[in-house]
Amino acid sequence: MEKLVSNWFNDQPLPQSYIFPPETRPGNHVIPGCSTIPVVDLSKASGHDRTGIVQQILKASREFGFFQVVNHGVSENLVNDTMNLFKEFFELPAEDKASVYSEDPKRPCRLYTSSSNYETEKVHLWRDNLRHPCHPLEECIKIWPQKPTRYRETVAAYSIEAKKLGLRILELVAEGLGLSSGFFGDKLSESVLLSVNHYPPCPDPSLTLGVSKHCDPNLLTILHQGDVHGLQVYKDGEWIGVEPLHNAFVVNIGHQLQIISNNKLKSAEHRAVTNSKVSRTTAAFFINPSDDCIIEPVKSLIDTDESPAYRAFRFKEFLLNYVSITGNPEKSLEPFKLHV
Ligand code: OGA
Ligand code: NI
Repeated sequence: MEKLVSNWFNDQPLPQSYIFPPETRPGNHVIPGCSTIPVVDLSKASGHDRTGIVQQILKASREFGFFQVVNHGVSENLVNDTMNLFKEFFELPAEDKASVYSEDPKRPCRLYTSSSNYETEKVHLWRDNLRHPCHPLEECIKIWPQKPTRYRETVAAYSIEAKKLGLRILELVAEGLGLSSGFFGDKLSESVLLSVNHYPPCPDPSLTLGVSKHCDPNLLTILHQGDVHGLQVYKDGEWIGVEPLHNAFVVNIGHQLQIISNNKLKSAEHRAVTNSKVSRTTAAFFINPSDDCIIEPVKSLIDTDESPAYRAFRFKEFLLNYVSITGNPEKSLEPFKLHV
């Protein structure tokens, strides 16, 4: 418990154990929010502009692996309520957080700090994280935090809406790839995990990271990043900032969607930097295949002059491997690649 950054950060210089080596630290170079990451107006997907919206999503998923969605249909009040509850959770007195805190990565609902490898990692991340599964809801809700008092009821409503939004986006992706309706709707998107990051104000953001460079190992991520800068995407050798937009969600392609699309869609590397003024709380909704689901490139997406870039595997095999190579995103696809 005493390891949580939110429990000790006040007025202390940045401890040595949070200082990243010069190659991976953000440095003093300011990276502003960038307007090149496409913003998709989802309200148009139900009208005559649907084809245009599908094309925008596909182009963004190919080029950036990232886009933002606005007019997404999730109630603004529900999003604000949920984000405020997440903030309140991290501000609870230590004794209230203690029941959720765990250093055991196998515990399904847990509050912890940095990464799953706190004891062995070289440098700690400037973040605390609360994560828990959201499906099946009736089962999962029983293990969620009980404080703040409205947590379970509000986060349940939010997770239903976030899942619906995710499925809607996956439906548009399927359409763009020429796959059948509902292609991603069953086993491929069965499991959902909520991961709430809390980055307290940091004494020296140039030296440390909230989340280091990685790709998400799942199918699709729907992130609410609040109104504070911090998320950056690595593209063509440069970091670009993802502008916090009012009432928008950031969507990014996970490794599984890259594999299924035989590299047509891209799972982009990204990281989160800290800031010195305010705390930042973000909520990532990870849409995952079920553990036993078999993942492989879809035949119709392998062009005639191409061969499959990956072998078939079960999603749980990917996850086991991913955990063991955390911190080395370039390596996570290696064991599944077919070299021709
Ligand atoms: C993540 C992530 C970014 C952020 O949780 O996988 O990339 O801005 N988070 O919190
Ligand atoms: Ni991520």
